[in-house]
Amino acid sequence: MTLWAGRFSSAMDQTLWDLSESYSFDHVLFAHDIEGSVAHARGLESAGLLTHEECETLCATLATIKGEFDQGTFERHANDEDIHMAIERRATELAGAVGAKLHTSRSRNDQVATTLRLFTRDALTEIARQTLRLADTLIHVGEKYPEAYLPGYTHLQRAQPVLLSHHLQAHAFSLARDVDRLFDARRRLNVSPLGAGALAGTSLPIAPAVTATLLGFDEPFANSMDAVSDRDFVVESLFDIALLGVHLSRMGEELVLWTTSEFDFATLGDDFTTGSSMLPQKKNSDVAELARAKSGRLVGNLTGLLVTLKGLPLSYNRDLQEDKEPLFDSVRQVVLVLAAMDGAYRSMRFHVEAAAAAADDPLLVAIDVAERLVAHGTPFRQAHEIAGGLVGRAIREGRSLSEVVGEEPSLGDFDDLFARGAALANRRSPGGSGPDAAEDQRTRLRHLLTSLAEKL
Ligand code: ARG
Repeated sequence: MTLWAGRFSSAMDQTLWDLSESYSFDHVLFAHDIEGSVAHARGLESAGLLTHEECETLCATLATIKGEFDQGTFERHANDEDIHMAIERRATELAGAVGAKLHTSRSRNDQVATTLRLFTRDALTEIARQTLRLADTLIHVGEKYPEAYLPGYTHLQRAQPVLLSHHLQAHAFSLARDVDRLFDARRRLNVSPLGAGALAGTSLPIAPAVTATLLGFDEPFANSMDAVSDRDFVVESLFDIALLGVHLSRMGEELVLWTTSEFDFATLGDDFTTGSSMLPQKKNSDVAELARAKSGRLVGNLTGLLVTLKGLPLSYNRDLQEDKEPLFDSVRQVVLVLAAMDGAYRSMRFHVEAAAAAADDPLLVAIDVAERLVAHGTPFRQAHEIAGGLVGRAIREGRSLSEVVGEEPSLGDFDDLFARGAALANRRSPGGSGPDAAEDQRTRLRHLLTSLAEKL
């Protein structure tokens, strides 16, 4: 018998049961649901709806049930539609009449919203923690190869040489913004829906502010209908995860390119690569490909939920049950990707020589030739034209730019610019890829990551 059987004369059809039960996926919420129920029981006590003894019995019973879940001994009964009903059913089984008081002045509508906010708050914190770890790893990899440089690309065409540390730190800065966004979502979701009831509150003398404080929420809901019916906090979390996933995907794509024989800038450790079932020579960067691929799924979870919510009238609708699987999936997948990418970067051997050889392409110094002309008084447009002409000549004549430039002594002496790594060493603009600027940004990045870590 279901907990609402009083009103019904026949049992639910099996097909409706299969469609509507959510225990099969929402059982992962057990700890947060129990946390919410303990606070609810204490709130009932402070409202005089439970005696102190009743409240203690209920809390002890809930602790026992939590233990059953932790040990894997909790048994689902055939009528347990979702995690909330399973726990209430078990509480009544264990504590009898007191258990039957647990749901006083509460609906599954405010209960599930509370439980999900508690779950999401912890999940966002965990994702932020792992993202900060990856950002830290990127700094360390850069430090492992302090002098290393590679071609920086625009349009995937070689543009200017850049330091490896500068390149990796570019990714770390986007990850830092992702963490900041996760914290922002966490702050906005930190409002308690408990006490909203089914949609309109209750005639019983409860104080939502009490349970809000017990659960570490910043404040209780202001509007009960809003509290039970919006899942904007899930959408926002899914967006933040999707964008983080997109950043990880771009990093993955780059590792795929770097580890090809065509680029040959890096090798991932044997423990982070896979072989081929047929081709003995293969060493594949599946980790990076999967990081790239998972973003599709994360974006899908976001757009799926947005479409589910669109057009829902106030207040609770069963459609809202469909918020969980996308959320659980996105949280799980992004954590998997973060951990694996962290390991992949740690295992990476950067091919310092090959990357430098690619970046030492004299054509990449063309802008430095133009900038030296500017430093000596030539307007930039004209300097660009002169350097462009020299590049054109070098390409047409199949010669190196340094040689062609050397034949124009009237323009000045540019020899030093073509020395290995000189273009980088000359770069001094703040935030750019010169040695001093890269050091400055690393200091800034470290401060940023430390201040974010303090908010974990
Ligand atoms: N399992 C449901 C959910 O996830 C719980 C709420 C059910 N509420 C209701 N009025 N049927 O949303």
